[in-house]
Amino acid sequence: MNSAIFTDSNFAQEGDLVQLQGTGHRSHLLVLEAGAVLQTHRGVIRHDDIIGTAWGTRLESHQGNPFYLLQPSLSDLIKGLKRGTQIMYPKEISYILFHMGIGPGKRVIECGTGSGGLTTALAYMVGTTGKVYSYERKAQIQDLAIKNLTKFGLQNRVDFKVGNAEDGFDEENVDAIILDLPNPQEYLHHVRKSLRGGGSLGMILPTFNQVEIILRELKLANFAMIEVSEILQRFYKTDWARLRPVDRMIGHTGFLIFGRKVDRLAAEDSDDEAFDDEQGNQD
Ligand SMILES: C[S@@+](CC[C@H](N)C(=O)[O-])C[C@H]1O[C@@H](n2cnc3c(N)ncnc32)[C@H](O)[C@@H]1O
Repeated sequence: MNSAIFTDSNFAQEGDLVQLQGTGHRSHLLVLEAGAVLQTHRGVIRHDDIIGTAWGTRLESHQGNPFYLLQPSLSDLIKGLKRGTQIMYPKEISYILFHMGIGPGKRVIECGTGSGGLTTALAYMVGTTGKVYSYERKAQIQDLAIKNLTKFGLQNRVDFKVGNAEDGFDEENVDAIILDLPNPQEYLHHVRKSLRGGGSLGMILPTFNQVEIILRELKLANFAMIEVSEILQRFYKTDWARLRPVDRMIGHTGFLIFGRKVDRLAAEDSDDEAFDDEQGNQD
């Protein structure tokens, strides 16, 4: 069944993707199917009791445990997908989408499909007029991503391809390319071939050493407007009488690196010693 995440109805219908949000951040993503039953460790809920119910209703399992009936947000989809690999966090994904201008009609390559976390967000944003080309070297891992996107009803917006970045990409003149894999510097020549002039490249890398290497290589490959950033997000307990940060936070995920493909760099952009050495320039 193709699930609906973009519904205008005020009531949950058969085929809709719904989020049952329990207390304590526990939630379930499910596609409504007449006759089906959701088993949770907090009790059983029959899909028939959800179908036709207004969004925002407080439901109860057979044990009397409460669940709110919600339409999942993009962030809920990413947090709720089944994982076989480390996925990108919504805090990084949201900045990537914003910074790289991923929106309706865009054509985007990603390499390193993994479990499909970023793929979900890209497919959601490019809409029905855009396309995501998602490459992954391990078919088994990509199968999980395909299952996730199918559950969300987003699979038709993605061309899933089993392939290694070493072999390059089939598409040309795409608007943006995102590499979520080790050693992206080895694939910059393929990126240049597939990216349109002025197009945006984005990467995520966990360590400083990798960032140093990619910065040097981006210049040599004529990428301008290079940016490195790190997104830190701190959540708060929402008790108004005891407002304070939560006890634990995620200390580190990765560094985001961006650049734009240009035909050649301006002198100011290529003005550093390492670059001069590489080019054989004298002082
Ligand atoms: C960290 S995961 C990607 C996670 C994904 N962005 C997400 O949000 O779910 C990295 C993936 O890149 C794949 N990969 C690593 N090197 C690759 C290469 N050279 N070509 C294609 N895929 C590669 C790995 O198999 C792995 O599934």
